[in-house]
Amino acid sequence: MIHIPRAEYTRRRKALMAQMEPNSIAILPAAAVAIRNRDVEHVYRQDSDFQYLSGFPEPEAVIVLMPGRQHGEYVLFCRERNAERELWDGLRAGTEGAIRDFGADDAFPITDIDDILPGLIEGRDRVYSAMGSNAEFDRHLMEWINVIRSKAHLGAQPPNEFVALDHLLHDMRLYKSAAEVKVMREAARISCAAHVKAMQASRAGLHEFSLEAELDYEFRKGGAKMPAYGSIVAAGRNSCILHYQQNDAVLKNGDLVLIDAGCEIDCYASDITRTWPVNGRFSPEQKAIYEIVLASQEAAFAEIAPDKHWNQAHEATVQVITAGLVRLGLLQGDVDELIASEAYKAFYMHRAGHWLGMDVHDVGEYKVGGEWRVLEVGMALTVEPGIYISPDNPNVAKKWRGIGVRIEDDVVVTKQGCEILTGGVPKTVAEIEALMAAAR
Ligand code: GLY
Ligand code: MN
Ligand code: MN
Repeated sequence: MIHIPRAEYTRRRKALMAQMEPNSIAILPAAAVAIRNRDVEHVYRQDSDFQYLSGFPEPEAVIVLMPGRQHGEYVLFCRERNAERELWDGLRAGTEGAIRDFGADDAFPITDIDDILPGLIEGRDRVYSAMGSNAEFDRHLMEWINVIRSKAHLGAQPPNEFVALDHLLHDMRLYKSAAEVKVMREAARISCAAHVKAMQASRAGLHEFSLEAELDYEFRKGGAKMPAYGSIVAAGRNSCILHYQQNDAVLKNGDLVLIDAGCEIDCYASDITRTWPVNGRFSPEQKAIYEIVLASQEAAFAEIAPDKHWNQAHEATVQVITAGLVRLGLLQGDVDELIASEAYKAFYMHRAGHWLGMDVHDVGEYKVGGEWRVLEVGMALTVEPGIYISPDNPNVAKKWRGIGVRIEDDVVVTKQGCEILTGGVPKTVAEIEALMAAAR
């Protein structure tokens, strides 16, 4: 299995600690187990920041980083080995495993954290944590601080500054290393195979969930534990619902189906959308809309390169889509004025993409100092223009209504421009029709 090598986690911790102020401490908790219903749990997914710094896959754990600490800079609190619990729930690393397999300098049972952590914080000037994102953990942190404060009369020195860890960490996460790109390529490869499978399986009379089953099968077969987000399988008018999740309607002859789905590998997401005709042949109206979306995506790719800013790709899609809608008579007027008045938003109401990484809508600032961020090598993003003609839009001829098209690919910025990670699934009308015809 392709995964992030252990050495990379060490490198990330060192890079973060190098950016922390002297005499500081960073503390971050693992994701909690989420209850689905009564005693059934959701599939466990580690918190992305926690995973980024440790690769440690268990709940009930806390990372502590103390740059410059003589007895070890990286301390991990985690669950102890427990034969009884491991019989029921699976193996645990334990404190020995945390050191041996996950590179911790020191490890303690999580049950001892209240006794040990105040002593580690004491004397440090600054605490870095993801304040505000985990209310329960914030409360614990204040309790640990208060333990130190209560001993001030004995000479204990509580920290005076609390710093948002996100700022440093999320900027690091925005730049993907070679190892990360490799994992993202693998997630993309599997997701491409899944979209191809769903295209080939597409038939009138099936349900949206029949195609979702094809996706899930390919994801799991490829080694993915789970989709990176709830798969959207939206046929007919459902294609106009941007985050449609029901996935239970019947696929009808003559309709399009829009699938927005991608798997996750080693906590890295892929995010692909393809739209195709249920019966394998685009109608003239479907084709006309599709070609505009595709051309807008091509225009966007040309705007993704070092030194171009974040919004240029979006602007390119708006330009091509608005001009295309005017050409088809779906919008009337001057293209520049329609853009200025945002008239296109009746058909294209979302942005052309987002950062992509461990979270499907990944972390990282889009603006710096009030200006759109300039793209740099290693940044990963999606390019996903769309046109959605509401089934209830009274301003367009009936033949257009209910057509929703989105085309989404994942790219990484390179020196020359960008690498498209998700090129392995057909995209032109001719390619899609040929693939579907061959599967009939
Ligand atoms: N799948 C959600 C998105 O494309 O942003
Ligand atoms: Mn998507
Ligand atoms: Mn997306």
